[in-house]
Amino acid sequence: MTAGPTREPLDPARFLSNRSSGKMGYALAKTAARRGAEVVLISGPVALSEPAGINTIHVTTAAEMREQVLEHARDADIVVKAAAVADFKPKKYREQKIKKSSAEPLIELEQNPDILAELGGTRRPGLLLVGFAAESRNHEQEGLNKLRRKNADLIVVNDILGAATGFDVETNQVILVDRSGSRQLPLLSKVETANRIWDHVLTLPSPPGRSL
Ligand code: CTP
Repeated sequence: MTAGPTREPLDPARFLSNRSSGKMGYALAKTAARRGAEVVLISGPVALSEPAGINTIHVTTAAEMREQVLEHARDADIVVKAAAVADFKPKKYREQKIKKSSAEPLIELEQNPDILAELGGTRRPGLLLVGFAAESRNHEQEGLNKLRRKNADLIVVNDILGAATGFDVETNQVILVDRSGSRQLPLLSKVETANRIWDHVLTLPSPPGRSL
């Protein structure tokens, strides 16, 4: 289970990141554990406390998250990528703080590896892959595009513009997009949404030995 944002450092004082709070990912981790799963939570920097009884690994950058995800995916039945991985990082990390007097008004960026797409491209049989899609428009279509592009089994689409579904709120309303179609869930707490996601995961074509 991954959750939260990643941070991509620019210099010792600054980084690029996003508004992910980690709440949805932490709710998924906790509900999975309550339902009997052995959970490894790989978390970017968040303001949430570590869930009791869950092996939580803290990472900062997308590169660190990738390393941990690839290592733990080897033994996993299900990988859920709720983390908002930064798509880009500064091309160059400056060892010294950039001073205003010498700063240029442009930061050159390069793409981070797409962890979910990498897992989807190389996955072993039996590994179930769930991704998220944070969208501001064309939600269902974007979900379907990501399902195909990243070779996932399920994409959970959420609307980042809604007051009750955006960043850092306690509720969510998601669309579940899988290979057989899509389904909109009602507006629910993130914990209830997490439980509905697990209910749906159990309806997907199942690798042997999985019960949650
Ligand atoms: N993801 C990932 N590694 C990245 C970027 C995204 O693993 N470098 C995963 C996220 O954890 C999420 C899914 O891919 O499960 C979709 O992330 P999102 O940011 O919505 O999609 P992008 O591929 O970045 O596409 P776009 O920016 O076009 O929306």
